[in-house]
Amino acid sequence: MTSLAVALHALAALLWVGGMAFAYMFLRPSLPPLAAAERLGLWRRLFGRFLPAVGGAILVLLVTGYWLFLGAGISGGHVHLMQALGWLMFLLYGHLVGAPWKRFRNAVDDGDVQAAAAHLESIRRTIAINLVLGVVVVAVGASGRYW
Ligand code: HEM
Repeated sequence: MTSLAVALHALAALLWVGGMAFAYMFLRPSLPPLAAAERLGLWRRLFGRFLPAVGGAILVLLVTGYWLFLGAGISGGHVHLMQALGWLMFLLYGHLVGAPWKRFRNAVDDGDVQAAAAHLESIRRTIAINLVLGVVVVAVGASGRYW
C-alpha cells in the first residue's frame, strides 16, 4: 500500500510539474509565429484540458501525501517543507482557476483579444511561480530521506 501511494504521489507530481515545464519552457517560446488570436485560442483549449487534470492530480497528491505522512508515519523536515510549499502551490492553483483563468476564458470566448492577453500574462506569472515551487518540492520530496 505504501509503494502504491508513493507511485501515485510521484505520478501526480510528474503530471503537474512536468506539464507546467512543458507549457512554459517549450510550448510558449514556440508560439510567436502564430497570430495573437490563434495563440490565445490554443492556450484556451490547452488550459481547458490541463487545469482540470491538475485538479485531479492535487486530489491524488493530498490523499496519498497525507496517507504516507499520517497513515504510514513517514515524517521529517523534508515532509514538513513539502507540505508547506505544497499548500502554497494548491492556493496559487486555486487563485489561478478562480480569477485569471476564468477571466481569460471569458475574454477569449467574447473575442476580446486585448483583455485575454492581459489575463494570460497573469496566468503566466502564476504558473512561473508554481513551476519554481514545484521543482523545489519535487527535489525536496525525492531527496529529503537522504539528507
Ligand atoms: C501538501 C501535502 C503533501 C504531503 C503531506 C506530502 C507527503 C509526502 C511524503 C510523506 C512523502 C514520502 C517522503 C519520503 O519517503 O521520505 C512524499 C514524497 C514525495 N512528494 Fe509529497 N507531499 C505533499 C505534497 C507534494 C507536492 C505538492 C508535490 C509535488 C508537486 C510532492 C512531490 C513528492 C515527490 C516527488 C516525492 C518523492 C517520491 C519518491 O519517493 O520518489 N508532494 N510526499
